[in-house]
Amino acid sequence: MTRVLSCIQPTGDVHLGNYLGALRNWVIGQHECDAFHGIVDLHSLTITTEPKVVGDNTLRLAAMLFAVGLDPDAATVFVQSQVPQHAQLGWIMECTVSFGELSRMTQFKDKSARREAEFISAGLFTYPALQAADILLYDTDEVPVGEDQRQHIEITRDIAERFNFRFGDTFVMPKAVIPRAGARVMDLQDPTSKMSKSATADSGLVYLLDDPAAVLKKFKRAVTDSDNEVRFDRAEKPGISNLLEILAAVTGGTPETLATQYTQYGPLKNDAGEAVVEMLTPIQHRYHELIADRAELARLLGKGAEKARAVAEATYRRATEAIGLIQI
Ligand code: TYM
Repeated sequence: MTRVLSCIQPTGDVHLGNYLGALRNWVIGQHECDAFHGIVDLHSLTITTEPKVVGDNTLRLAAMLFAVGLDPDAATVFVQSQVPQHAQLGWIMECTVSFGELSRMTQFKDKSARREAEFISAGLFTYPALQAADILLYDTDEVPVGEDQRQHIEITRDIAERFNFRFGDTFVMPKAVIPRAGARVMDLQDPTSKMSKSATADSGLVYLLDDPAAVLKKFKRAVTDSDNEVRFDRAEKPGISNLLEILAAVTGGTPETLATQYTQYGPLKNDAGEAVVEMLTPIQHRYHELIADRAELARLLGKGAEKARAVAEATYRRATEAIGLIQI
């Protein structure tokens, strides 16, 4: 059975890009594949400075993952810090990737540029090594992610290849699985930048927990352009193309054919907003039920951690044996 793994950071609330680019595919894949999904709290430490925040975000994110449809009986949902082999293999991965390779990561360049005046942790730089550990620990075949993670999966493959060459065949070679529509949802106020938790303003981000009025307002105010033609053209018409792509991802059409159904921007904005509201309403109901029972969430995460540990322990041992670390 195909082993699938993907993870999300517990930083800020989940947005439409996370959902259409990744989470929705996790839910679709969970019954056909052996699925592991991690809440990667250690990754979020790269930018965490306040006490108590990460734990709370972790539980809220767990509630959201179950609310969007992950079934704790089908998928293994776990918290990264509960499986110590992530940090342990992470170090080995740091020793298997080069400074030059890490320096070429566009996400590090973007994030460190945005934090120019702030503390830039060494963890922000070595982050892809920990992500490689997340993936390789589970003998992962497929990693369902949004487009922005493609480079991180590529470097994971390079690391796996190098380790296998140095120490013998140990890791399974993973591949990225990126959806056709929704792989790169753009900010509604700045459609040349991806929708991101680290955006400066909330008005371009649609959160899964936004109420219907807020969602409709954000779509209504989405930045478009001054001519009036509805056409799918990412380079020339990024705002309109983003709306078409969101509508396509939600309703199942293609952005090109949807474009032929509109002659004005207003109805397109309205339909995209309405489609998103309709999609989010049941998710929000389930979320509010789940978040009210934190003990149950902790129990489900405990069960996930146990299953995750069993796999991670075996792979970690295989890796340390391949290297020849002493086994006692
Ligand atoms: P994170 O937490 O930023 O995002 C979680 C998932 O959401 C996708 N995504 C998007 N997809 C489409 N449009 C967008 N605007 C958009 N924004 C985010 C991301 O591609 C991702 O799939 N480094 C990862 C977390 C991670 C991971 C892993 C992922 C750590 N270890 C192992 C896969 C496998 C991250 O920061 O994702």
